[in-house]
Amino acid sequence: MTRDAVLARQAKRVLRGNDAGAFTKPGPYQYPHQWNWDSALIALGLSHFDLPRALAEIQALLSGQWRDGMLPHVVYHTTASDYFPNPAFWQIEGSPQAPAVPTSGITQPPLLTSVVRMIHARTPVAGFVRQVYGSLLAWHRWLHTARDADGTGLVCLIHPWESGTDDSPRWLQAMAAITPTDVPAYSRGDTRHVAAVERPFETDYDRFVYLIDVFRRLRYEPQALLARSPFLVQDVLFNSILYRADEDLRALGLELGEPVNEITGWLEQQRSHFDARFWDAPAGLYFDYDVRAASPIIVSTATTFLPLYAGLPNASQARRLVEDHLENPDEYAPGEAVRYRLTTTSLREPAWDGRRYWRGPVWIILNWLVADGLRFYGYDNLAEALARDSLALMTSAGFREYYDPRDGAGLGSTEFSWSAALALEFREYV
Ligand code: DGY
Repeated sequence: MTRDAVLARQAKRVLRGNDAGAFTKPGPYQYPHQWNWDSALIALGLSHFDLPRALAEIQALLSGQWRDGMLPHVVYHTTASDYFPNPAFWQIEGSPQAPAVPTSGITQPPLLTSVVRMIHARTPVAGFVRQVYGSLLAWHRWLHTARDADGTGLVCLIHPWESGTDDSPRWLQAMAAITPTDVPAYSRGDTRHVAAVERPFETDYDRFVYLIDVFRRLRYEPQALLARSPFLVQDVLFNSILYRADEDLRALGLELGEPVNEITGWLEQQRSHFDARFWDAPAGLYFDYDVRAASPIIVSTATTFLPLYAGLPNASQARRLVEDHLENPDEYAPGEAVRYRLTTTSLREPAWDGRRYWRGPVWIILNWLVADGLRFYGYDNLAEALARDSLALMTSAGFREYYDPRDGAGLGSTEFSWSAALALEFREYV
């Protein structure tokens, strides 16, 4: 059996091992509930060898959808655990929109629709698409209404957890501007399972918790959250994933014979504002925007390459992103400082840290999203290099949550589901 075939067999074992019955845990100890974008990728992985289970994964996630369409970042189902925050902490029952299932009160990057389309393209599941289309549409509509603060069609995030990149240095300034007062008593669960040096700092956690407390006092009312959340940003990663997901939703809608004018409108609106808001022409990079401070966030992280996944840059923007930055060993490319692609933060950023969560480690999800974008723009060799590095890391250090880009050491959660799922995806790149 080849090395890749062995890795694929191990990947399936991890996905099966994390199966909790109704859903799949992202990690067996650290993440014992159902996370939104993890779950989408888990379904994609499962679809390679157990399509019914993949579709059930998606149904389980949608069972946590709020009445107004919001798809929460965590669905707790009935599993008891030592994870913090637990369901009681969110107090979602304060909102008339909350579902019967216990969930968090915030959302996460909307990968799900694109995954549904990818699965459907691989093995047609038209009946299933029809079943879930209304829920997907409702989630996108919620994002484009409840989270559009300025009529640009670009959505706002109210919590770093919504970006999926919790302690990214992109959020340092916005977080520093928040003074957490009367932080509710809490005890971190994450550092029970993973070394503290690999997890966000205490100062971040105090603010993570403080923000939840603000939201629950506002009863998760969308207008109040937009008006009063101390953290309000437009994120390049989230908006790129949404743009691609809107395109995929539109394609699914057309196939089902549904009206798609509303979705076409969202796409046009986003396209006409994306560059003005995010593209920094002198730097040749996309930067996030701090809506509260009304200023761009001039911090370079690998999420700057996500518009490639959405097909948004023109040829010259794509060339600058790739040739000036992705291939630059002083920023992202392997060289004297790092051995593996793709460090999540530019090596030039003072906050770079090769072992701490989103401050520098390689994440398989980012490698996959960027590789997909690179292929779209014809950079097939670079996409293959990302795939090879990802497979090499998983082969030598196992299916970890993230990896040190210098020595390839595995970090964070062990037996991490989306790494396993994406190992199956990356097989077709090499
Ligand atoms: C965590 O617990 O680390 C998550 O990223 C929050 O969803």
